[in-house]
Amino acid sequence: MAVESQGLTIVINHPAAEHYVQLIRERFPQVRALAAPDSDRLEWHIGEADALLAFRFPVEVFDKAKKLRWFQCTGAGIDSIFPIRERVGHLKVTNARGIHGDVIADYVMAGVTMLHWDFRRFLQEQKDRQWNPRFIAPLADKTLGVVGLGAIGGTIARRAKSAGMTVVGSKRDVSVPIDGVDRLFPSGALEEMLPLCDFVVLALPAKPDTVGFIGAADIARIRPHAFLINIARGSVIVEAELIKALQSRAIAGAMLDVFEREPLPQESPLWDMPNVIATPHVAGSPTNYTERVFSIFADNLDRFLKGQALTNVVDLSRGY
Ligand code: GLV
Repeated sequence: MAVESQGLTIVINHPAAEHYVQLIRERFPQVRALAAPDSDRLEWHIGEADALLAFRFPVEVFDKAKKLRWFQCTGAGIDSIFPIRERVGHLKVTNARGIHGDVIADYVMAGVTMLHWDFRRFLQEQKDRQWNPRFIAPLADKTLGVVGLGAIGGTIARRAKSAGMTVVGSKRDVSVPIDGVDRLFPSGALEEMLPLCDFVVLALPAKPDTVGFIGAADIARIRPHAFLINIARGSVIVEAELIKALQSRAIAGAMLDVFEREPLPQESPLWDMPNVIATPHVAGSPTNYTERVFSIFADNLDRFLKGQALTNVVDLSRGY
């Protein structure tokens, strides 16, 4: 059944709210788009919202969102809604999957190269005017393992394959082969997969059953010369155990884009560990992010207005 578009109100809770409002008004002059970039304006408008466009679902105002029927997340991970997932009832949840994979694969391959070549050492040597040639194994001799082969993990796998690497990966459903993956493991078989890897990339969704998914036992299965790259969420690995493993060189190093707490607290040892590259949750942030999300959102809004099925729907029971 088509929705009465004239009265439809969309609330945008995002730092780029004004930009989204402008894009929505240009393309959908018949709907009401309200910018609510901060908590005061969100609180003010949320009761009027039929649809909400936001990165994080504002669970703190959920009880006031009496009319809300659709939440379009501007990101891929919808972990923010899990605390109230039993209560969201008929709410449709969609995400922006599809816009992150390429730029995240760029990040991962940069990390693989920097860690493997020890570019930090080259840069230091350059600074010290030291000329220290050495041999480096080609990436084609190395194995990269992707934990979580969704849209993002699959793109990483194909990119690593195109660099000539052996690629292994784990996924909940292993019934369908994944392009670029030489060997597929069920997600419960990490103990078999991790010891094969020179690089372990975490690309699994954050959801209640993946909190601390990689704990001390799995970290111990990563070989001492291997590197870990996390572009998922900080919660999927037990950070204190990872720090211990990095400090004791039980694993060689890590590139981390996500952390248990963000921004990474000033007192975190990860800031200045010599074998860690830490970045501020940027791996999945391509330029023109707002326009990219808008193209998914606009397609969905069209569908919503016509009463058609939405795309990029998240199954909250599955978590992605
Ligand atoms: C970013 O981390 C996202 O989930 O899109």
